[in-house]
Amino acid sequence: MSDPVATSERERRQSHALEIADVSKRFRVAGRQVQALSHVHLAVGEGEFVSIVGSSGCGKSTLLRLVLGLDTDYDGEIRVDGQRVERPGLDRSIVFQEHRLLPWLNVEANVAAALRQSGLAAAERGQLVRDHLHLVGLEQFAKAYPAQLSGGMAQRVAIARALVTKPRFLLLDEPFGALDALTRLRLQDELQ
Ligand SMILES: Nc1ncnc2c1ncn2[C@@H]1O[C@H](COP(=O)(O)OP(=O)(O)OP(=O)(O)O)[C@@H](O)[C@H]1O
Ligand SMILES: [Mg+2]
Repeated sequence: MSDPVATSERERRQSHALEIADVSKRFRVAGRQVQALSHVHLAVGEGEFVSIVGSSGCGKSTLLRLVLGLDTDYDGEIRVDGQRVERPGLDRSIVFQEHRLLPWLNVEANVAAALRQSGLAAAERGQLVRDHLHLVGLEQFAKAYPAQLSGGMAQRVAIARALVTKPRFLLLDEPFGALDALTRLRLQDELQ
């Protein structure tokens, strides 16, 4: 018979796809210690949509960078399905406040860049890129370069790039913050 304590621990972990357990993060800035995160706990279940709200500098972007696996120098633990996050992976995507598209690549190549590590065949990758440009309404702009897009269009490319790997976790770091109010409302609806 299985150990009831171990079983309930397993169930608890399964119900929380993402766990942020007692995470603290310090930076050294100009010889001074900055406490960016202090004992953060957060558990996110499958299919949940969680918003992190707080004043400028309170550590929101820092926390997302840790979840993405870009920085592993912190105290505490971040787990996906009970496994410690050690590095970025195809299961986690992020959209930043600025689109961060590569200016020398056209729209379809920017989206395709996310699939480089996917191991998929070229034809499959091409289809996924087309599907996701269609999803964000930019199939007509596949050959355009980032400098030829509006701010909202560029953010939609960034969303397509984040979704094309079909990640389990989509991290959004104020992705519509730089857009005008009407475009922001429309993209919030589209994204949902
Ligand atoms: N790479 C870094 N090096 C040093 N300090 C950093 C670094 N990144 C963030 N910090 C510091 O960590 C703290 C949290 O920054 P963070 O960017 O996470 O805030 P935020 O909540 O995302 O703010 P905003 O709403 O303005 O985007 C700030 O005091 C910042 O100066
Ligand atoms: Mg931020």
